[in-house]
Amino acid sequence: MRTGIIGATGWLGSALGAGLLSRGISRPDELVLLNRSGPRPDYHGYENVIWVANAADLVAQSEVVVVSVRPEDWAALKLKADGRLIISFMAGIDARTLSRCRGRIVRAMPNAAAEIGASYSPFWAAEGVSEADRATVRRLLSAIGTTDELETEAQIDLMTALPGSGAAYPAMMAVAMAGFMRAQGVSDVIAWRAAEAAVVGGARLLEGRMAEAPELLAAYRGYRGTTAAGIEAAEAAGFAKAVTVALAAATDKARRMTIDAGDQV
Ligand SMILES: NC(=O)c1ccc[n+]([C@@H]2O[C@H](COP(=O)([O-])OP(=O)(O)OC[C@H]3O[C@@H](n4cnc5c(N)ncnc54)[C@H](OP(=O)(O)O)[C@@H]3O)[C@@H](O)[C@H]2O)c1
Repeated sequence: MRTGIIGATGWLGSALGAGLLSRGISRPDELVLLNRSGPRPDYHGYENVIWVANAADLVAQSEVVVVSVRPEDWAALKLKADGRLIISFMAGIDARTLSRCRGRIVRAMPNAAAEIGASYSPFWAAEGVSEADRATVRRLLSAIGTTDELETEAQIDLMTALPGSGAAYPAMMAVAMAGFMRAQGVSDVIAWRAAEAAVVGGARLLEGRMAEAPELLAAYRGYRGTTAAGIEAAEAAGFAKAVTVALAAATDKARRMTIDAGDQV
């Protein structure tokens, strides 16, 4: 099956192309690629991918079209994709706006971990998307990690906040943690290593069993030691509230982008 990627050399589009090729989901001659800056002689080690010059050429040669440009670049594409399966990665461009290209619309929300094949990329399918289309979406998204189908399009806005934020909040934690260490006179290198131990190493303990996080916290509290003191102080300072406010602001931004994009097109 020929898959077109619009934005094939961007952060996500490139990760998808690399994953499709390296996992053998697509042969090089099944990938139809478009970007703004032009063809590359080598695409993730492959030469015989198909580069096209514009969106019309891409649609003509593809059965599935992945749209991985930034939301502000969508309108200029003037995509016409009658009868094609369209998978949009764009935040803030809703199905009503996308459907003007006359394709069958799926919205998916990957994150930056796509580049290491570890994105969680939930998707939502609009009316007219068949079971076979859904199987295609799952197969393509498996190139960059895992997926689930969402029940409503509104949940896509929530997914832009989380998991779409990728490493943003872990990075914020790391900056705050290393900052504390440095302020206490710890060297830069050791401060960052200490933060990495907590943010990356600690998180690994939860991998595959995230729903057990409350029990893990309860166990730390049960020790009544240093970590329990830290957890209590963080809660008193509004840790959970800061996270909630951040996710609400990101979701609200996605909703406002959707409204603005609908007004423009
Ligand atoms: N990055 C994330 O973590 C993330 C998470 C969730 C959702 N998203 C969504 O995914 C989409 C892509 O994000 P990204 O971070 O991958 O963006 P990006 O790195 O800026 O890549 C954008 C791609 O679009 C191409 N492009 C721009 N205008 C074009 C045009 N008119 N015709 C053809 N190609 C064009 C660019 O070409 P050149 O390479 O030649 O410049 C580039 O390949 C966005 O809509 C974003 O909302 C991103």
